[in-house]
Amino acid sequence: MVLGGRLVGAALQVALAAQLSLILPAYYVYKATTYLLGAAFPEDVAGKHLAYEYAKRGAYLALVARREMSLREVGDVALGLGSPGVLVLPADVSKPQECQKFVDDTIRYFGRLDHLVNNASIWQVCEFEEIQDVNHFRTLMDINFWGHVYPTRLAIPHLKRSHGRIIGVTSNSSCIFIGRNTFYNVRPYSVSSS
Ligand SMILES: NC(=O)c1ccc[n+]([C@@H]2O[C@H](COP(=O)([O-])OP(=O)(O)OC[C@H]3O[C@@H](n4cnc5c(N)ncnc54)[C@H](OP(=O)(O)O)[C@@H]3O)[C@@H](O)[C@H]2O)c1
Repeated sequence: MVLGGRLVGAALQVALAAQLSLILPAYYVYKATTYLLGAAFPEDVAGKHLAYEYAKRGAYLALVARREMSLREVGDVALGLGSPGVLVLPADVSKPQECQKFVDDTIRYFGRLDHLVNNASIWQVCEFEEIQDVNHFRTLMDINFWGHVYPTRLAIPHLKRSHGRIIGVTSNSSCIFIGRNTFYNVRPYSVSSS
C-alpha cells in the first residue's frame, strides 16, 4: 500500500517535471521576445515624451488619441511632472468631425491654443508590387496624412490669434530609403510639403 503510494507520488513528480521542462523554455522564450520587442518598439515613444517635455515646462495639455486609458495614464504622469492642467480627448484624427470636436473642446476648456503637435501615425509594411489592392492602404493615409491635415486646418485660426506653432512629428523615411515602407514613406514628404 505504502509502496504503491510512493510509486504514484514519484510518477506524479516525473510527470510534473516533464511538463515544466516543456513549458518553462517556451515561457522564457516568450518573456525574452516580448521584452526585446518592447525595448525595440516602445509604444507611443514620441507623443508621450513630447507631452512630458511640455509638462515639465508648465504647459497645459490637451491629449488626443483613440485609447482613453493610455491618455489618462500619460495625463497623470504629466500632472506629476508639472503640467497645471490636462484635458483628455479620445478621438480619431482620421475623422474630420472628431478633429473639429477636439479642437473646439480644447478652446472651450483652455480658451486658447498655442501649439498643435501632429504625431499620430500607423505603420504598414509591404513591397509596392506585392500589393493586390492599394485601397488596403487608405487607413494609413487617412491617419498619417489626413490625420495631420484636418487638425492643422482647424487649428490655424486659433494659432494665428496666439501667434502659435505647428509641430509635425513625421519621419526621415522620405529621404532615407527604407524598403517595404511604401506608403509610410510618402507621408513625411506629403505632410511637410502641404
Ligand atoms: N518609433 C519610431 O522609430 C519612429 C521613427 C521615425 C518617426 N516616427 C514618427 O513619430 C511619430 C510617433 O511614432 P511612435 O513610434 O511613437 O508611434 P506609436 O507608438 O504607434 O504611437 C502613435 C500614437 O498615435 C496614436 N494614433 C494612432 N492612430 C491614431 C488615430 N487614428 N487617431 C488618433 N491617434 C492615433 C496612437 O494612440 P491610439 O492607438 O490610442 O490612437 C499613439 O498614441 C509618428 O509620426 C512616427 O511616424 C517614429
